[in-house]
Formats: sequence, structure tokens, C-alpha cells
Amino acid sequence: MEDMESLKEQILNNIKAANDIKALEDIRISVMGKKGLITEQMKSLGTLPLEQKIETGKKLNVIKSEIEQALSTQKQVLEEKELNEKLKKETIDITLPVRPEVQGRIHPVSKIYEEVVAIFGQMGFEVAEGPDIEDQFHNFNALNMPANHPARQMQDTFYLPNTNDGSFDMDNSYVIRTHTSGIQIRTMESKKPPIRIIAPGRTYRSDYDATHTPMFHQVEGLVIDKNITMAHLKGCLYDFVKAFFELDEIPVRYRPSYFPFTEPSAEMDIGCLKTKTELKIGAGNDWLEILGCGMVHPNVLKAGGIDPEQYQGFAFGVGIDRLAMLKYGIPDLRTFFESDVRWLKNYGFAPLDFSSLTGGLSNNGGQTR
Ligand code: PHE
Repeated sequence: MEDMESLKEQILNNIKAANDIKALEDIRISVMGKKGLITEQMKSLGTLPLEQKIETGKKLNVIKSEIEQALSTQKQVLEEKELNEKLKKETIDITLPVRPEVQGRIHPVSKIYEEVVAIFGQMGFEVAEGPDIEDQFHNFNALNMPANHPARQMQDTFYLPNTNDGSFDMDNSYVIRTHTSGIQIRTMESKKPPIRIIAPGRTYRSDYDATHTPMFHQVEGLVIDKNITMAHLKGCLYDFVKAFFELDEIPVRYRPSYFPFTEPSAEMDIGCLKTKTELKIGAGNDWLEILGCGMVHPNVLKAGGIDPEQYQGFAFGVGIDRLAMLKYGIPDLRTFFESDVRWLKNYGFAPLDFSSLTGGLSNNGGQTR
């Protein structure tokens, strides 16, 4: 029995030292299992004389229950330890945002582009495109601005060198387009009337201040068909500004103007209220110039291979960036192109906020900035 006592002490020590459930279970099997130390002792009781058997049996039972107690205590300790470790691993930082924040933003220029396309698309216009690097025929000559025509001075053109030594011959060099009007010609060259297109794109002029940047954006519009009149132009653009500014009524007026490629030419103004801090469109006694337009000049139709005796058309050109400034109250054009993420976060739009006339142009599902 001395042996038994010291064996028990050892087993109890081992149990206390077990530091995971698996080790504890191994000890349990080695002591209490079918061939465990205590089990074997129990079995050997049968060989003892009766009295000894009773006495040893009692002691063994006490030892056995002590060991069982120790096993279950240690099991609880280890289970708690394991649970705590698991909980520690699974902790979450509740100060983090609920779900990943939407990061991307749509630039106001892209937004206005989509809005304009949605409005004119609804009226049956197709989107046309042209190259940024344009020849002088499409940018000027075909638009009724032959070389040395004074109207070329209206635009501060960037001419591109056309020789390898970097020099250029002004009359034949390419330009980066000063307006999207060249796409009028490109469209006439590739399509037969009736024509109804809008052409959004980048344009370039050597100019820089709060309302001018060397690169900016325009949308060109062109309609050519039989019996097209200035009334069509006015109706179409009136519908456009109302849809664009999302207003039922807007005062508009057309001021006579001059563009070499339209005759007559006009500038369209919309009514607004200007205060020191605010610009309210659609109300008040002030006027704001918004676009240039006119009836396509017969020389332009001819240059595009269309008979001006049979067909007439109207055209217009709107500044996309200018529209963005007006609609979304952005004061300085230069900031559009500074690639400042903070600016984009403030003035940009939610990526899935598509513009449509039915779903709302600028305010879909309350997702805008
Ligand atoms: N191209 C002109 C501009 O850049 C705008 C315009 C387009 C005017 C079409 C009339 C017709 O200012």
C-alpha cells in the first residue's frame, strides 16, 4: 500500500501538470483505462485473502475516487483555458467600420457626361467619337475656317510639331482639337442624313484661370435632316436644360452670336439668381451663358458631302465642366484636374449611382455624396 500511496501522489502530480485535454485523456487511460494502473490493481484484488481484499479494496476505491476527482477538476480547468484561448483568438475590433467603406468615386465630369448622354439618348441621339489629335481640315477648314481666317484667333490652339526635328509648318501640322466640332464633319463623312448625334470629349486650348484649363470637356450636338429649322434647335435645347437641371420650368433666351460654322449663330442663356453666396438656377433676373449653337452653315454641309439645298441642320456645343460647376456648385475649374482625393470624395458620386431619366439623373436612391 505504501507503493500505492506514492503512485497516487505521482499520478495526481501528473494530472495537475497536464496542460491540454489530450495529455489529460492519456493519463486517464493509463490509470483508469481497461489496462490502466488502477484497473489492474482492482483486478488483482481477486487473488488476495478475504480480509486483505476488503481493506485493500476500500483503499483502492478511495484512491480511485481521489484520482477521478482530480481528473475532473483538471478537465474543467483545461476546458476553461481552451475556451479562453479560443475567445481571445476570435475577438473582433468593434471600433472598425461595420463593413468595408465604399472607396471609389465617380468624377463630376464623368457624371455630367452620363447625364447628358442619358438625356439626349432619350431624344434619339447616338454617341459619336473623334480623335483628340485632329488635322486642320476637320478642326478648322471644313468648319468654314480656312487658313488665315480671322476666326482661328478665337481659339488659342495648340499646334503639334510635324517633323522629326521638332519644327513645324503651321499650315499642315496637326492640332489637339480646340473643340468637338470636328466630329460634325467626321460624322457627315461616315453617315447619311438623317443624323442625330452627340459627341462628348476632351478639348484643348492654351488658357488657364479659375474658369479655364488647358484641357476641358465639351459635348457637341448635331442634327441634320430635311426641313430642320431654328425652332427644332430651340425646342431641343430647352428640353435639354430642363431635364439637366431637373426643373419643370427654366427661363431661356438666345442671344445672337458668331461661329464660323453656324449661320445664324446664337448663345443660349438660362435664367438664374446670383447672390454673393449662391447661384440659383431657374429663378431670378440674371442670365447665365450656357452653350453656343446655330444652324449648320451651308459650307460646312458641303465640306461634309451633304447637299445644303436638300438638307439643313443645327449644331450646339456645351462645356461639360462648366455644366458640372453650375449644377454641383464647384467654384474653381482647375480643381477638377488636380487629382486630389479629398476633392473627389467631396464632389464625386457613388459608383453605382447610374444616371437615367426615369431613375433620376443626379440623385438615385439617395446614394449621391
Ligand atoms: N465649337 C464651339 C466652341 O467651341 C461651340 C459650338 C458648337 C457653337 C456647335 C455652335 C455650334 O465654342
